[in-house]
Amino acid sequence: MKDIFILGIESSCDETSMAIIKNGKECVSLTIATQMEIHAKYGGVVPEVASRMHTESITLVLEETLKKANMKIQDLDAIAVTYAPGLVGSLLIGIECAKTLSYLFDIPLIKVNHIAGHIYANNLTNPINYPSLALIVSGGHSDLVIMKKDYDFQVLGKTLDDAIGEAYDKVARVLGLNYPGGPNVEKLAKKGKNFYNLPIPLLDDDSYNFSFSGLKSSVINLVNNYKMKNIKINKSDLACSFQTVAIKSIIKKVELALKNYNLKNLIVAGGVSANSFLREELNNLVKKYDVNLSVPDIIYCTDNAAMIGAAAYPLFLKKEFSDFSLNPQSRLEIF
Ligand code: KG4
Ligand code: ZN
Repeated sequence: MKDIFILGIESSCDETSMAIIKNGKECVSLTIATQMEIHAKYGGVVPEVASRMHTESITLVLEETLKKANMKIQDLDAIAVTYAPGLVGSLLIGIECAKTLSYLFDIPLIKVNHIAGHIYANNLTNPINYPSLALIVSGGHSDLVIMKKDYDFQVLGKTLDDAIGEAYDKVARVLGLNYPGGPNVEKLAKKGKNFYNLPIPLLDDDSYNFSFSGLKSSVINLVNNYKMKNIKINKSDLACSFQTVAIKSIIKKVELALKNYNLKNLIVAGGVSANSFLREELNNLVKKYDVNLSVPDIIYCTDNAAMIGAAAYPLFLKKEFSDFSLNPQSRLEIF
């Protein structure tokens, strides 16, 4: 069969990214223009600023991505773009670019859900084996899902409140760390001990759900109480205590699902999968149950367009193409 080259476009938040993916699993070229430094000044992503920055960088990102691959637009078999969920104004820039290229060069257009992108990022590192248990841990998601085949999602559990990445970001803020919080909390936690006694969320054996808002509030309350009493906080210890409890509670539910469903493949997706403590704990867990673990390479864990090109490949094979009425959707979930 002829090799299939898909251009992936991702602009759902604060990264303008494009990639060319060969046969759904090989990244030929990847460009990520991050706006992180600009948003860090405001302590989080400012949607209006994000859209403007996408507009400024999108053509440069396209040129760079084609140049690195030594390819022309005419060499592409499909244009894939994130259409949901995300910031509408940001998504729109990527979608308009994808539609324009598709129309001008008569190349099929494929819409990709951002979370499916995170899941299929695994194919760029280790091809996904089915059935797999998928753990999705990002800024907006904490889910446990069984996948028996491509685009087949049986949801076991979700977060009842905050997503884990969101909790990391809020804890970072109360500890006075810069945006994006997750990696900075992780760095600080490495220097600390699990000293503070924080409540462990949802340890029940009856559900696969998560909850992080109680844990987040405990950290905020502890910081405020100590401040009021003029007691100094050891920030590294607090970061470590938060991280230990948050990750242990995830491991507990992953273990429960692996045991109860006797699954032998585990894949991890989303920004928090870049966390080395989570990766370490998952490694220990899979050894115990003789499970095959796949975590994307760090570059494919956080937002990037390679994952969008990878997620588009099964849709390309099924000829699931979009027309030019495609619009962004801020909250649409795949499961
Ligand atoms: O998947 P992602 O790039 O964007 C969403 O689709 O939400 O995830 C971003 C989230 C942020 O909350 C960020 O703080 C968190 O992932 N994150 C981390 C790490 N790297 C990114 N959290 C903990 N440890 C990390 N190393
Ligand atoms: Zn993401």
